Amino acid sequence: MAEPESRLVAVSNRVGPLSDEGQAGGLVVGLSDALKRRGGLWFGWSGETSDEGTHSQERTEVEGNVAMTTIDLTEEELNGFYYDYANRSLWPLLHYRLDLAEFDRASDRIYRKVNHRFAVRLMPHLKENDLVWVHDYHFFYMGSELRQAGYNGRLGYFLHIPFCAPEVFSALPASHDIVRALLAYDVIGFQTDTDRRNFVGFCVRELGGRKLEDGRVEVGDRTVIAKAFPIGIDAESYSRFAVSPEASSHEEMLLDMSRDRRNLKGEEAERKLIVGVDRMDYSKGLLERFYGFERLLEDYPENRGCAIFLQVAPLSRSELDAYADLRSELERTAGHINGRFATLDWTPLQMMTRGFTRKALAGIYRAARVCLVTPLRDGMNLVAKEFVAAQDPEDPGVLVLSRFAGAHAELECGCIVVNPYNTDDVAGALQTALTMPLEERKRRWELMREAVFTGTAQHWCQSFLATLEAVGEAGAGSPPS
Ligand code: ADP
Ligand code: F6P
Repeated sequence: MAEPESRLVAVSNRVGPLSDEGQAGGLVVGLSDALKRRGGLWFGWSGETSDEGTHSQERTEVEGNVAMTTIDLTEEELNGFYYDYANRSLWPLLHYRLDLAEFDRASDRIYRKVNHRFAVRLMPHLKENDLVWVHDYHFFYMGSELRQAGYNGRLGYFLHIPFCAPEVFSALPASHDIVRALLAYDVIGFQTDTDRRNFVGFCVRELGGRKLEDGRVEVGDRTVIAKAFPIGIDAESYSRFAVSPEASSHEEMLLDMSRDRRNLKGEEAERKLIVGVDRMDYSKGLLERFYGFERLLEDYPENRGCAIFLQVAPLSRSELDAYADLRSELERTAGHINGRFATLDWTPLQMMTRGFTRKALAGIYRAARVCLVTPLRDGMNLVAKEFVAAQDPEDPGVLVLSRFAGAHAELECGCIVVNPYNTDDVAGALQTALTMPLEERKRRWELMREAVFTGTAQHWCQSFLATLEAVGEAGAGSPPS
């Protein structure tokens, strides 16, 4: 008889929903796809605050084979752990924005305390033989806290965002503590090989560690596996979403926008819809992207009156100044571009902050001739993969992708690669994409399709868990068989 699968226990700050409620964020999308297939326990923050915080009563919701158990944060924990340490210190640092990073010892203390409390609260749920898989930069200390609380089972960790170069990471006052704490995990997963190399580089240069074979790294008496596991999407489902009635109605709505224009002009114009879909985050390069579109209209005037850029940008972390400032700046710049180029029958740039269901988004992607994905840094970027999966094979759109997105490693085979800091480069890539002949669009799309349908969410989950499972009792010290 086949061995029963070990139970998966996933831990992340955000938990669920498993159903599609139009929420933005790569972690929840990737993890729900993986958990829905395998089942297990998903543990994390409720999204609520209460006076008891991490001492609060836990809530469990069960959907199919997944139990989602969550606890609250106190107001102080929400500020110190989530806003200050996770998103004012770690997020900018790991995205190479030292200029925005703020370090203070009060939030460092609260961050450690919350990691400790979550570990203590998770302990009673753990069973022998579970596979515990902790996610993202909110829980760097969770593994070492679980070990201190007596957990001896297999522990994996996956970082959804970039791991920056060692010399940048070493600016963080707690950089040594964090990397030492990470060594409590058996397997540490990264989005790309660059992230893995940066982590191993830090271990070697800062902690006197040694790079071993088979992706293992040794620091003192700890040996862990550090490996890239690029996250993907449920490509089969996504391509089905794209032909659902909900997707088609969104696609039609957008196509109508251009059809109306064609009728007004009495001519058969080329479809010139460009879309961008990103949380409103400074790492996504939205402002630079707006400048790139403006340069397109300046340097390639044939696009005036017909190219439309639709930027979907749901608000994210709006309580933080850097995010509120970005919103004002984007609104100002969109107004400036529209003021400069709009005509009575044409508004070149439309930005909206609302959420869409995945089916609706798939329809939006399918209506677009070009998808503009130009982060200044991004762990992976699932939007790029979703765009590819949603295309019509007979008339696919073109992906313009930043060289600084993790997805670049898998999609450079077919996308147009840009340096998002270079306005001329972005404008030139847009012009190439808008005028690309059908045969070339098909050829490029086929190559990307292959990558997106191979490196799926299921593959990501299975390959990570297979590596963690193979660690077995011997720990990561011995090479995987
Ligand atoms: P991040 O994790 O940094 O937000 P990703 O591109 O990896 O970036 O993931 C973003 C996810 O959020 C994608 O699955 C995307 O479809 C989803 N998303 C982005 N904007 C919206 C929106 N307006 N409504 C619903 N989902 C969105
Ligand atoms: O993918 C990076 C990430 O931080 C995820 O952890 C998170 O789901 C998403 O961005 C949205 O951010 P937040 O959870 O801060 O709203």
